[in-house]
Amino acid sequence: MPSPLILVNLKTYKEGTGSRAHMIAQAAELVAKESGATIGVAPTYIDLHPLCHHFAIPVYAQHVDGFEPGAHTGHVTADAIKAAGAAGSLVNHSERRLTLADIEASVRALQALKMTAVVCTNNEATSAAAAGLAPEYVAIEPPELIGSGVSVSKANPDIIRRSVATVRAVNGKVKVLTGAGIQSGECVKIAVDLGTDGVLLASSVVKAKDPGAVLRDLVSKL
Ligand code: G3P
Repeated sequence: MPSPLILVNLKTYKEGTGSRAHMIAQAAELVAKESGATIGVAPTYIDLHPLCHHFAIPVYAQHVDGFEPGAHTGHVTADAIKAAGAAGSLVNHSERRLTLADIEASVRALQALKMTAVVCTNNEATSAAAAGLAPEYVAIEPPELIGSGVSVSKANPDIIRRSVATVRAVNGKVKVLTGAGIQSGECVKIAVDLGTDGVLLASSVVKAKDPGAVLRDLVSKL
């Protein structure tokens, strides 16, 4: 079985930008090497290319537009993030919602370049719709728990269980992540035991004094 994906979204936190983004990516690379776990980061666009260049971990964009390269202004294409070295992108994060048609365009644009699409969803119904688009991952995150410090694994294991079953029923090839409030090895273990292929998280790592120590704890029960 491939090792679960621990994907750290750096969002636009000050503590996840510039030199801190480098520090977190370096810690992720070290902990991944020590533990054999797969740890990725999703920085802002500004930090995407430097992190891809300096660190041997998967780096994801936080959003991608489903446009062909050309006359668009203020957008980011799959070609641009691929050229920067990204492995893929989050799509439809709760903090960057899209229409279903836009989600499909972003997924297709990524897949045309053999990149990984991680489509975020907020409940079981949207997880089913996302799975119908056949992305590589669906990431279920109850919005009310995002950034709350309360872990979805403990507060709402049922939504994880149901979403895993729903996604599998729609398309058995789509992998499932879960997120919101994930902060410890125990949260990760519960998520994986419930059938997910890993977790998507942010604040517990990004805002930590010692992100490496949190990452070590996150992978400690795998
Ligand atoms: O993208 C991950 C995120 O939305 C969860 O955030 O801070 O609850 O881990 P957090």
